[in-house]
Order: sequence, then structure tokens, then C-alpha cells
Amino acid sequence: MNFETIQVEVNQGVGIITLNRPKAMNALNVTLTREVGEAVDAFERDDNVGCMIITGGEQVFAAGADIKEMKDQNFVDLYSRDFPYIQRDCWRAIDDARKPIIAAVAGFALGGGCEMAMACDFIIAADSAKFGQPEIGIGTMPGAGGTQRLTKAVGKAKAMELCLTGRMMDAEEAEKAGLVSRIVPAAELAEQAFKTARKIAGHSRPVVMLVKEAVNMAVDADLQDGLKFERRTFEATFAFEDCKEGMAAFAEKRKPEFKHC
Ligand code: CAA
Repeated sequence: MNFETIQVEVNQGVGIITLNRPKAMNALNVTLTREVGEAVDAFERDDNVGCMIITGGEQVFAAGADIKEMKDQNFVDLYSRDFPYIQRDCWRAIDDARKPIIAAVAGFALGGGCEMAMACDFIIAADSAKFGQPEIGIGTMPGAGGTQRLTKAVGKAKAMELCLTGRMMDAEEAEKAGLVSRIVPAAELAEQAFKTARKIAGHSRPVVMLVKEAVNMAVDADLQDGLKFERRTFEATFAFEDCKEGMAAFAEKRKPEFKHC
């Protein structure tokens, strides 16, 4: 895969997407968002990939939608193409992915950058990370999930304050609020995210996908529907060879060898 604005690699079952527009703080332009969508779709189809990481590298995750590219767009442009470079090209691919996607965030994750990180399954943050929805400061508002996903993640009070003021929160505040799963030193972000992704990729792939679906049910469904879905998916894992192998390996005091079936 050859891309202009991202770098991609597959290593030990992990598909890594690195946003790469350093001069523009990885601002999300048409090309970058299309390329992220293409890379996610390609990793989703690749049997060698069990988990993905989206990262901006050590300095910055992404400072939002590319304001310079966006500034001359009008309502008809955006509406008639459904804000294309955000929704159709990129978020659909992330939302539709059945394999887990980890956002590894260092530095700014603002506006569309924060929204991209929140669209992933969980966020590992460097201690340098800063999250925010500053769109109000440029006379607009979040357009790719900021008012919705942030509110579900941190609750109404904090989401409302952040979206109305544009204030950024640091990694510590984001972790306390439940936006990020954990904080690591900035120098260890790539390694820690990779270790986590490799661990997930080493588990049974169909079980990993079921767990992802079940946790997502908790976000969108009511409790009784979610509990029922969890019971049925738990029962379904007993149809997998990997379940027999995992339990046999435990009883025999050895490491399981999953075949992803
Ligand atoms: N779009 C385009 N270019 C951007 C950008 C963006 N979102 N963010 C930063 N850049 C560019 C700057 O223009 C600058 O380029 P030049 O060197 O060519 O001038 C370069 O990146 C470095 O930026 P700064 O000089 O501003 O760096 P800083 O350290 O002083 O400030 C910052 C960093 C606080 C992130 C500041 O750049 C900033 O406020 N950026 C905009 C943040 C923002 O408003 N994001 C929301 C965008 S709208 C959106 O995302 C809509 C949506 O929900 C879908």
C-alpha cells in the first residue's frame, strides 16, 4: 500500500497506521482521511492482522480537520457530500471494523483528531496528550462525533464544558474522566501500544471480535438486551476450536495455540 499522508506497516499481527503530515500537525485533510479509511479497510481484510493501531507518532496525534482546506467550503459542498472526508471515507471504515483499533495519542488530539481517537476502540495516551474540541473558537462545532462520543465517554457536564469553551484536557484529566484507558510516558507510547495490540492479536480472533461487539452493546443497548447478547455470545464461543484449545491448555498448564477458528 502506497500512501501520501500516512505510513502503514504490519508487525507480528498488528497493523499500524501512522498519520504523517508533520508540518500541519497531522491535520485531517481529504487525502489523509481517505487514506486512513483505505488502510483500515485493508487491515480488516488482511488475515495477518488481528489488531490495529492508529497513531500520530511521538509529537502530535492530530490538530483537527484541516482548517485551511475547509475554510472555503460552503454548506451545499458539505451537506451534499455528507462531509465526505470525515464521514464516508474514514469514520465508516473505523466504525465498521470488527478487529479492534487502538488510538495511541501523544500531544494534541483536537477537533477531528480527538474525534478520530474516540472512534477507535480505546485510547492509550502519552503523558503529553491533550484532548479537546476547540471548534467553537473558529466559529463552528464538532462534526464527527465530538458532542456525541465525548458525552458518552466523560458525561454531560465535562463534555458540555469542553465543547462550549474549547478548553483542552491533559492526559491525567482525560484518564480520570474515562476517556483514555491508561497513560504511559511519551517515550514508551509506541512500545506500550504495540505490546497491547500484539497481546490482543494473539488471542482467538473470533472471540476478540465477539468481545468487541459485546462491549459496544453496553454503549448503545439497554442493560437487559446487552446482558442477553453477552450470554448468547459467551455460549457461542463454545463452538470455536479456540475455546476448547484455551481451556485444554489451561488444564494441561501450557500456552494455548489459537487457530482463529
Ligand atoms: N488545520 C490546518 N493546519 C493546522 C491545523 C489545522 N487544524 N492545526 C495546526 N495547523 C498548522 C498551522 O497552521 C501551522 O502551519 P504553518 O507553520 O504553515 O503556519 C502548523 O500546523 C503548526 O501550528 P501552530 O503554529 O499553530 O502551532 P502551535 O504549537 O502554536 O499551536 C495548536 C498548536 C494549539 C494545535 C494550534 O495549531 C491550533 O489551535 N490548531 C487548530 C486546532 C483546531 O481548531 N482544531 C479543530 C479543527 S475543526 C474540526 O476538527 C472540525 C471537526 O470536528 C470535524
